[in-house]
Amino acid sequence: MSVLRTKPIKDVVAQGAADGTGGRPGLRRRLRAVDLMGFGIGMVIGTGIFTLTGIEAKNHAGPGVVVSFAVAGVVALLAALCYAELASCVPTAGSAYTYAYATMGEIVAWIIGWDLLLEFALGSAVVGRGWSGYLAELLDLPTAWFGEEGSIVNLGAVAIVLILGLVAIVGIRESARVANLLVLVKVAICVFVVVAGLFFVRAANLSPFIPSAEPASSGEDGIRQPVTQAIFGLEPSVFGFAGVLTAAAVVFFAYTGFEAVANLGEETKKPRRDLPLGLLGTLAISTVLYIGVSLVVVGMVPYTEIDEGAPIASAFEAAGARWAANLVSIAAIAGLTSVILVGLVAMGRIGFAIARDGLVPPSIAKVHPRWGTPYRISAIMTVGVALLAGFLPLSALADLVSIGALLAFVLVSVAVPILRRSRPDLTRPFKVPFSPVLPIISALACLYLMLNLSVETWIRFLAWMLLGGLIYFGYGYRRNRLARREHAHPEEPTPIAH
Ligand code: ALA
Repeated sequence: MSVLRTKPIKDVVAQGAADGTGGRPGLRRRLRAVDLMGFGIGMVIGTGIFTLTGIEAKNHAGPGVVVSFAVAGVVALLAALCYAELASCVPTAGSAYTYAYATMGEIVAWIIGWDLLLEFALGSAVVGRGWSGYLAELLDLPTAWFGEEGSIVNLGAVAIVLILGLVAIVGIRESARVANLLVLVKVAICVFVVVAGLFFVRAANLSPFIPSAEPASSGEDGIRQPVTQAIFGLEPSVFGFAGVLTAAAVVFFAYTGFEAVANLGEETKKPRRDLPLGLLGTLAISTVLYIGVSLVVVGMVPYTEIDEGAPIASAFEAAGARWAANLVSIAAIAGLTSVILVGLVAMGRIGFAIARDGLVPPSIAKVHPRWGTPYRISAIMTVGVALLAGFLPLSALADLVSIGALLAFVLVSVAVPILRRSRPDLTRPFKVPFSPVLPIISALACLYLMLNLSVETWIRFLAWMLLGGLIYFGYGYRRNRLARREHAHPEEPTPIAH
């Protein structure tokens, strides 16, 4: 059963020590709690709030989209508690991938690592394309090269991914500075939206708060319908309470990315204290802002008339405040820029952790002696993301980012009680309250949201996983560090999480 071999915690801790493996340079500890929140919010607040609010209010939930944001926020918070416990107990660059390797076995770790690469790579590519579109709109650039129409390659998307990839490679401190600045801009403007928007809210727009259920239009059946509807043979419908839950699964996208903080465990000065602060702080701030912003948007415009492309900016425009609409566009561009940057940083760390374990060729895990970053793997992935963003129209793939994050959250939640049983002796600076009840509720809630995503998303997700399976059995299964160690000392049984 060597696909289930686990990596000893002491190895995880030793690898994360400052000198890296085998005397080679490791990542540099340069980040504080506030930087972690900068990275977290940098990745979280992005396209989700700036576009999905409108689409979901208009098509699935009405003003009830505020409840959808609250539900998704609670689910994300439960997962963040679980992340906080594991990250403070075993700070590492691999986050969920490494926790799974130490608790549930190699194959689960590979699945989660492969899944996280999908989440961050696709997230950065999808958002890179969105960024290009926003820039074209603001500066009146030709849509042939910056938009979705008529272009072979989206130059704007390729350029922004390559530039930010370079920032990510040159240093974690440089990346933190850029992320913090962008985050200040977007948080300030979100607060502004809530405060200024309140003056334009009309109570009549908020009623009915949850419009009653109605049959779905033809675009929402077949493989476009949520898996729950398909499994239970329910009539495809929109609005009503079910519509609010469907919207919660979709707007969950807006919360994805906080877990990137957990990938910075080997670059944080005081990881045991600051990782929980970074994770939970990110989520608390984002949830409050999301509920405020979505409430203001559905309060300003009747949900049937909400603009699907740029709901917040056009709500202000409709209210006659064109200058406010421009501010929102600037916030959107700042927001999207930091999402791409943090996505690229996090992806490099996960790839680094996987390559360091030998599941892909370990030479690409090399850390740059001066910059202190995993420059090879980061460069390879940046080029991959730039190609994706440049050549594929990706907007339909945002749900794949959510399903990727949700699977990671399910496994991280399950890993909490497993590690408590197998290693009760480890120091846990942060503990999830009411374990194992909360971790189990967290896993079930994430699973439920996964099932509310469309059949189409599941099919694409399974195809990606199949590709991962081929790579694992073709290379990683035999060539990784634990496998080679077993081979060298066949008489020693694989240690089980000790
Ligand atoms: N949560 C990020 C966004 O909404 C990915 O753009």
